[in-house]
Amino acid sequence: MVSCRQTVASVLIASAIALMPALAGGQNAPAPAPYRPGLGDLMTMTVQPRHLKIGLAGQERNWAYVSYELHELEEAFERVARIWPKWRDNDIAGLINGSTKEPLEAAEEAAKAKDAARFNDAYTRLTAACNACHQSANVGLIVIQAPKSSPFANQDFRPPKP
Ligand code: HEC
Repeated sequence: MVSCRQTVASVLIASAIALMPALAGGQNAPAPAPYRPGLGDLMTMTVQPRHLKIGLAGQERNWAYVSYELHELEEAFERVARIWPKWRDNDIAGLINGSTKEPLEAAEEAAKAKDAARFNDAYTRLTAACNACHQSANVGLIVIQAPKSSPFANQDFRPPKP
């Protein structure tokens, strides 16, 4: 004869087994859609801080870091173009290529040559490219300028002491 206690125990075990998938994190639930950051999010998170850091490091003539960060900005723009090839009616990938490539390359060459005047010129054109694209995408209310001070109090933009 099956005792009452045994029956209760087996019911409890059976319900625990039935609950396991749910407890394991809902393995049967559909995978969430991959996160696609907005264009404005990418600009704020990945483009704007790098533009700023390049400007500050350039003022400090920290050329090795300027080169490093220019490369980071280039990659950030590549990701923007991949994630947002089109935004509203704007060909973002084409605009990025057409407007930012030349000043980015000129700034890289200036940093390699440690030429502050040429760097300043290229940086001014890079900033103008930000604003030209904002204007042509009808977000001319977003105005970028060379940084006047650092919001990154925990980062030193001067060249490291040898
Ligand atoms: C290819 C065109 C293009 C280029 C080049 C571009 N932007 Fe943008 N940017 C946009 C568009 C379009 C938006 C608006 C996106 C939205 O509202 O979702 C934007 C939004 C922004 C924003 C968000 C505004 C805010 O206050 O929330 C910032 C900051 C920004 N851009 C900075 C820059 C900087 C700095 C550069 C240059 C280094 C740059 N952008 C170059 C097209 C561009």
